[in-house]
Amino acid sequence: MYHVLGARQFDRTELEQLFALARMLETKTREGRCEPLRGKILASLFFEPSTRTRMSFEAAMLRLGGQVISTENAAQFSSAIKGETLEDTVRVIGAYADVIVLRHYERGAAARAAAVSEVPVINAGDGPGEHPTQALLDLYAIHRERGRIDGTRVAMVGDLAYGRTVHSLAYLIARFDGVHIDFVAPPETPIPEEVKDYLRRHGVSYAEEEDLEAVAARADVVYQTRIQKERFPSPELYERVYGRYVVDRSLMRKMKPDAVVMHPLPRAGEIDPEVDSDPRAAYFRQAAGGLYVRMALLCRCLEAELEQRRNT
Ligand code: CP
Repeated sequence: MYHVLGARQFDRTELEQLFALARMLETKTREGRCEPLRGKILASLFFEPSTRTRMSFEAAMLRLGGQVISTENAAQFSSAIKGETLEDTVRVIGAYADVIVLRHYERGAAARAAAVSEVPVINAGDGPGEHPTQALLDLYAIHRERGRIDGTRVAMVGDLAYGRTVHSLAYLIARFDGVHIDFVAPPETPIPEEVKDYLRRHGVSYAEEEDLEAVAARADVVYQTRIQKERFPSPELYERVYGRYVVDRSLMRKMKPDAVVMHPLPRAGEIDPEVDSDPRAAYFRQAAGGLYVRMALLCRCLEAELEQRRNT
C-alpha cells in the first residue's frame, strides 16, 4: 500500500487489517495519545470541490501529529492555471511533502501522478473513475452498522454511471462472501460494463433493477447517490434524470427494521431530510467514521514509504 489508486488493489486481509487499525486509532484518538506521524507533511491537492474528503484527510494528518499544506482549488490557485502539467506539479510537491492526496476531474489522474511521484499518492476521486478511500469508509460503515459484511444485500441507487463511489464500493464488496448488489439507476446512467464484468469474473451476484421500492424492501443497505450534475453532457439530460429515485419516509416504511441508508454525501434532494431522524439513516455516522479510516490509510502509506526507503 504505497499508492492508493483504486479499490481493486485491496484484498480482504488488507481490508480487515485496515479496519482493525482504524478502530484502534479511534480509541487512541479519543484517549488523546496518538501522534505516530509527528514530523510528516500531507499535501492536499484538490482540482475539484470537496468538504468531507479534503477536511477529513487534513484532520486525520493533524490528529496523527503531522502537518498539512493544501490547495483547495488547484485548477485556479496552483500553477496549473499557468499551464503546468499535473506531472510537474506532483514532482515538485513530492519534494515538500511526505504524501499527496489528489482529487482531479480526469479519470486516471491519480495513476498519472503516481507514475512520477517520489511519495505516496492517494486518489481522492478521479473524475467519474474511482473514489477508493470513500469506498473504504463505506465498507467500514457497513461493518460497524451491521457487524459483518459477508452476506450483505446492497442496493446501489442513483447516478451509477458517473458516481465514482459506487464503482469503488462494488469492487470492495466483491471481496466478501455471499453478497448481492442490486443496481437501481435511470436508464440514462447505468452501472458501467467494466464494473459488471468485474463482478461476473469474481462470481459476485448482482442484478439491474428499476423498482426501488421492491429492491429496498429486501435490502440490508440502501446506498443512495447524488445525480452528478457537473458530469452530465447537457442540462436537459440532467433534468430528465434528477429526482427519479428519492429516499423518503414512504420508502423507509417499506425497508427492513434493521436495514440502513447510506450516502457518500453531499446529497442534493435524493434523501429527504425527514429521514435523518430515523435510526436507520447512517450517512452522518458513515462520514464521521471516515476520519479513522483515513488516519489508518495515512499510517499504512507512510509505513510503506519508510519500508521502500529502507530497501533502496
Ligand atoms: N463523499 C465525498 O467525496 O464528499 P466531498 O466531495 O465533500 O469530499
